[in-house]
Amino acid sequence: MDVIQAIKSRRSVRQFQPNPVPKEKILKILDCARFAPTARNVQPWEFIVVTDANIRAKIATFASNAPFIKDSPVCIVVVCKDTKYYLEDGCAATQNILLAATELGLSSCWAAGDKKDYCQDVLGLLSVPQGYKLISMVAIGISAQNNADVPKIELNQLVHWEKF
Ligand SMILES: Cc1cc2nc3c(=O)[nH]c(=O)nc-3n(C[C@H](O)[C@H](O)[C@H](O)COP(=O)(O)O)c2cc1C
Repeated sequence: MDVIQAIKSRRSVRQFQPNPVPKEKILKILDCARFAPTARNVQPWEFIVVTDANIRAKIATFASNAPFIKDSPVCIVVVCKDTKYYLEDGCAATQNILLAATELGLSSCWAAGDKKDYCQDVLGLLSVPQGYKLISMVAIGISAQNNADVPKIELNQLVHWEKF
């Protein structure tokens, strides 16, 4: 799969088969995450791989917007040191996670972190030290749903040449 195909075929999936994701695939995905660009190359991220069903269930009770984390075999939690561009950097890493998962035949859904009122609950649950921000929680697994096409705004409504 080429990059453009991965970008265009990725869709958020919120229902997963129970099959575990092999550790090698998880590590491949995270190896791609660390190659994301970062402001001043500070690479402020760290990744917590949560496979334990009890911990995933607890995260899902904190994050009512992401109940699917309870049933996804893996949840990758992206945290960043509290640097100037932590959010942009962490989001770039998160997008790499989604695209690498797509390439490996896995589906995913990004669940919000930063700005959510459950940030401290999730960070505390996962024993993340002080000074880190919760960026995202990515559910990953084999899809168990038929993906309806999510409408995307047409390119010609978005592009301006030279001036807005
Ligand atoms: C920053 C961010 C936060 C998101 N948070 C959630 C979330 O908490 N729960 C959820 O179900 N989807 C979440 N999503 C997924 C979006 O709902 C999804 O990307 C959007 O509906 C477009 O669908 P697509 O990913 O299939 O293109 C989030 C996506 C982004 C980029």
